[in-house]
Amino acid sequence: MKFFADTADTDEIRDLADIGLLDGVTTNPSLVHKSGRDFKQVIAEICELVEGPVSAEVAATEFDSMVAEGRELAGIADNVTIKVPLTWDGLKACRVLSQGGTMVNVTLCFNANQALLAAKAGATFISPFIGRLDDIGLDGMELIEEIREIYDNYAFATEILAASIRSANHVKYAAMAGADVATVPPAVLKGLVKHPLTDKGLDAFLADWGKTGQKII
Ligand code: E4P
Repeated sequence: MKFFADTADTDEIRDLADIGLLDGVTTNPSLVHKSGRDFKQVIAEICELVEGPVSAEVAATEFDSMVAEGRELAGIADNVTIKVPLTWDGLKACRVLSQGGTMVNVTLCFNANQALLAAKAGATFISPFIGRLDDIGLDGMELIEEIREIYDNYAFATEILAASIRSANHVKYAAMAGADVATVPPAVLKGLVKHPLTDKGLDAFLADWGKTGQKII
């Protein structure tokens, strides 16, 4: 499973990139707003930090302007992936941009038929939002399973990018369900390393090592 960082915070991205954990980055308008940075500048900076796909979302909602904005953003760097919403115009823009050789991430996916349409429109990535489905009492993980089955039935190349991830369990179950990518908030990604028995075990080993009175170097 590939890990993308779900953030527009370049300090957090640098930190994760330094330990080789990052296969890409996703941003959205809310994350850009939170960063307080200029959109195109922050995307350019992220693209220098990370070799993999960096999603930048269009703000337009109509086909022509979506394509124009997509082309403008794609000009920032070769690894920019254009994010378009799962609307009719978004699917049309997806088709045109992907046929022109630009990676496209179709976002705000909440059911399997939407994901089927995105794959047929040539999406590089489909972003089903797990957490937001859980928020309204539905099962976000079930959607990942459904999309996996449909994409495998027809050998679609579109990658399932599990989004709106809120917990370590979301990461684990998305991996078990066969998501190709998980885009994860940095705090959740760093939390994956934690287990109380790891900490307890390390404390005990270090205490016993101290008692040996030895040094390795
Ligand atoms: C990423 O591509 C999505 O925009 C993001 O994961 C949404 O997460 P949220 O539902 O926690 O805002």
